[in-house]
Amino acid sequence: SKGAAMVTAVAYRLADQCRQITETLAEFRLTSDQLLEVKKRMRTEIQNGLGKKTHDSATVKMWPTYVLSTPDGSENGDFLALDLGGTNFRVLLVKIRSGKRRTVEMHNKIYAIPMEVMQGTGEELFDHIVQCISDFLDYMGMKNTRLPLGFTFSFPCRQTSLDAGILVTWTKGFKATDCEGEDVVGLLREGIKRREEFDLDVVAVVNDTVGTMMTCAYEEPTCEVGLIAGTGSNACYMEEMRNIEMVEGDVGRMCVNMEWGAFGDNGCLDDIRTEYDRAVDDFSLNPGKQRYEKMCSGMYLGEIVRNILIDLTKRGFLFRGQISETLKTRGIFETKFLSQIESDRLALLQVRSILQQLGLDSTCDDSIIVKEVCGTVSHRAAQLCGAGMAAVVDKIRENRGLNQMDITVGVDGTLYKLHPHFSGIMHQTVKELAPKCNVKFLLSEDGSGKGAALITAVGCRMREQEEQ
Ligand code: GLC
Repeated sequence: SKGAAMVTAVAYRLADQCRQITETLAEFRLTSDQLLEVKKRMRTEIQNGLGKKTHDSATVKMWPTYVLSTPDGSENGDFLALDLGGTNFRVLLVKIRSGKRRTVEMHNKIYAIPMEVMQGTGEELFDHIVQCISDFLDYMGMKNTRLPLGFTFSFPCRQTSLDAGILVTWTKGFKATDCEGEDVVGLLREGIKRREEFDLDVVAVVNDTVGTMMTCAYEEPTCEVGLIAGTGSNACYMEEMRNIEMVEGDVGRMCVNMEWGAFGDNGCLDDIRTEYDRAVDDFSLNPGKQRYEKMCSGMYLGEIVRNILIDLTKRGFLFRGQISETLKTRGIFETKFLSQIESDRLALLQVRSILQQLGLDSTCDDSIIVKEVCGTVSHRAAQLCGAGMAAVVDKIRENRGLNQMDITVGVDGTLYKLHPHFSGIMHQTVKELAPKCNVKFLLSEDGSGKGAALITAVGCRMREQEEQ
């Protein structure tokens, strides 16, 4: 009959749509072999970053941090910490007490950094930072104490000592002028001078990965790796001095800030990057840079999703083929939303209501597809991050000549903390790709602030010893 023929036609059309959507997403599904290959390539890039001859052209820079040991519990004193480069800018007062009952007490205030300031001039950015410090000191009633300060500055820095770091390049959402190539501690000190209102003693510049590792190591001495899966993606670990060819000396260990977000910038991940990854990169603030980070971190996952949704809509599979203004808006899918959409407890109706909040009118079918797209993109992100981590822990294991090794990774970041599946998939991937390592992941509570204070404490003690 005519009716049956029409049903068949519809069924064929739906089956074809389904096949095309599946095909589109298939590119994001990595095989075990592909993931092993990613791990292997990361290992090669690590080697290049550490080597004297290869460092200059390396993508994964493996910057020395001048942090030589993890905390031992003897850290003591009151410290200020700044945390710039994550989701929020924060100023903190951290009171660390050593002795039988070790305690860490923290007070902090969150400040917004408006987009115009993130992408304005360096002077404006640092004036704004100093303005926030001033407000915080007033708030705490501490304008007249000259406290030692640790500056968590979560961008790639070429460090020559604990308290000097030259910004190599901005990443994530920052693009203030006249900062790249400058010592950010110098920029901060100049900002404080310009204001002529209070004085601070800047002791350390710290990457957030390092702060995270130190915070966890304070509770758990086997923690010698730090990982951030948040707005950006990066890791650090304690490397043998003899392997860090950029620094004199062969004894002991130093923490290296890998800056692994730049993995792939030499094209070594091109075979797994999709057209959507390329689109996200092309329209970002830093095209061609931080390619691995753009596949793994919170600031970009939503953008990959958005690009896929636009494509599926253009092909008529979504939103009745209508590309709304909302869907054209960059940055609409924040980590928060992706995490909600992928929550298992959420009924499809709730997914639709989230999309509605974003200004996207969806049918029930749309919401199924959107959820599938989000799941596919975040699954790959977690696996890629796990493959990188597998390379790191295996490197440490080999450094120590061990057949089997227990190690703890301190972790922080919105993606790791908020997303319902990211952490689990990442853990599983590390397990599969580095079977000789028994890796424990420890969530860092407020790593950037506490860690910066711990490092500052060590820095102060070192300085006192030098002066004697
Ligand atoms: C970016 C920064 C890096 C930081 C990471 C996580 O990759 O370049 O320094 O650790 O984001 O915030």
